[in-house]
Amino acid sequence: MSLTATAREDLRLQAFANASNYNTMERGDLPETKARPNIFKNTLLALLIMLIALVLLIYIGVPLSINLSTTVRRQILFLSFLTSSEGLSDPESFGLNCSRNFFTTSDPGVRIASWYMQSQDMPCFADKEWFPGNSSTVLYLHGITRTRSARNRLELMQKMAGRVKTHVVAIDYRGFGDSTNETPSLSGVVNDSLAAYKRLRNIMPNSKIIIWGHSLGTSVTMYLARKLHEQDDDPAAIILEAALDSVGNVIVHNRLSKPFKWIPWFDEIFVKPFENDPAVDFNSTAQASSLNPKVPMLMLHAEDDQTIPFENGFSLYETIRDARKGVENAAPVTFVPFRAAHGFGHSSIVFYGKLSDLVLGFLGSNPVGPSEVLPEI
Ligand SMILES: *[C@@H]1O[C@H](CO)[C@@H](O)[C@H](O)[C@H]1NC(C)=O
Ligand SMILES: *[C@@H]1O[C@H](CO)[C@@H](O)[C@H](O)[C@H]1NC(C)=O
Ligand SMILES: *[C@@H]1O[C@H](CO)[C@@H](O)[C@H](O)[C@H]1NC(C)=O
Ligand SMILES: *[C@@H]1O[C@H](CO)[C@@H](O)[C@H](O)[C@H]1NC(C)=O
Repeated sequence: MSLTATAREDLRLQAFANASNYNTMERGDLPETKARPNIFKNTLLALLIMLIALVLLIYIGVPLSINLSTTVRRQILFLSFLTSSEGLSDPESFGLNCSRNFFTTSDPGVRIASWYMQSQDMPCFADKEWFPGNSSTVLYLHGITRTRSARNRLELMQKMAGRVKTHVVAIDYRGFGDSTNETPSLSGVVNDSLAAYKRLRNIMPNSKIIIWGHSLGTSVTMYLARKLHEQDDDPAAIILEAALDSVGNVIVHNRLSKPFKWIPWFDEIFVKPFENDPAVDFNSTAQASSLNPKVPMLMLHAEDDQTIPFENGFSLYETIRDARKGVENAAPVTFVPFRAAHGFGHSSIVFYGKLSDLVLGFLGSNPVGPSEVLPEI
């Protein structure tokens, strides 16, 4: 409904008449000045209600759902439901030279999507053959959130296929990207990584396989390495970037837990539900003594990691080191700390300028000697 010009003029005069009591004010300010206290009060009230709702949601909704449902715990831990499959069928469109998409069957009905990137030191698909030569292959097991196309994951693939001269295979576990849409679980993602490893072993019986895990992928790596040791099919080396000792300890020390730490039953509400649920209770510490001590390991951790605090990774290092003490011909486990000044945090160690040299040194020498912590980089 629109006002006629006359009616509008009347209203304006009316407003002016009302306002003329306030003779120090400008004409243009009048209606707004009168309305402000109400709008202000209403907005404040709305904000307050929203705040209370948010606090209730966070302090009651979150703990309740964590405690009620394993599906919620699995979704919170992996965050795979937030990923998209867009463009994943074409790795070259993400800037990966000489790469292909392929699928591997894991458990019945579960199909795992992966990218293969050929070592860049040979002509691209020269013999129309995948995995040419006897180059080593890096099997990359990523952490939670996003897919194999995340920026830090692309960087790692480029560096390994580039200067380090290995083939690279990066997988998305079930529930992530274009892999079968099923909520992941510990047993599920370990099965997925085992299926990918076995596939590589079948394709390249003569090649070395190096497993690179990042974040929660380091835990997947520990469980996988234990299974492989049981099957006498060990990888040539293991690299753990931003490793955790256990999910329970990460929940306790993670910065996202800070707003909840004052709650007296913090452990019972937030930690125990994860530790008591075999679908999410990753405990790398518990795997350490079941790995083959002859497999060399390299661990990388940034001191400013806010997601998996440095202490969690270092604690796992100490457990693995101690498990190898006194074992004849045990391979070393080398721990490399990165100074906070780099700002690498949880996901950017792969951008370190000399990462390729560091990895080449580790793979090339495979030194048999004492385990050690290198000076900070
Ligand atoms: C892409 O790969 C081919 C063969 O593998 C290589 O000759 C070429 O230099 C690579 N290009 C880039 C940009 O890395
Ligand atoms: C790969 O290794 C096998 C077994 O050691 C050897 O027979 C074959 O010639 C090698 N292939 C290449 C391309 O080096
Ligand atoms: C993983 O594999 C094991 C052994 O085959 C099987 O018992 C288990 O159910 C599998 N896990 C899932 C989530 O399918
Ligand atoms: C992890 O395993 C270790 C060794 O078995 C055990 O001492 C520790 O309590 C476990 N931690 C969690 C959080 O379950």
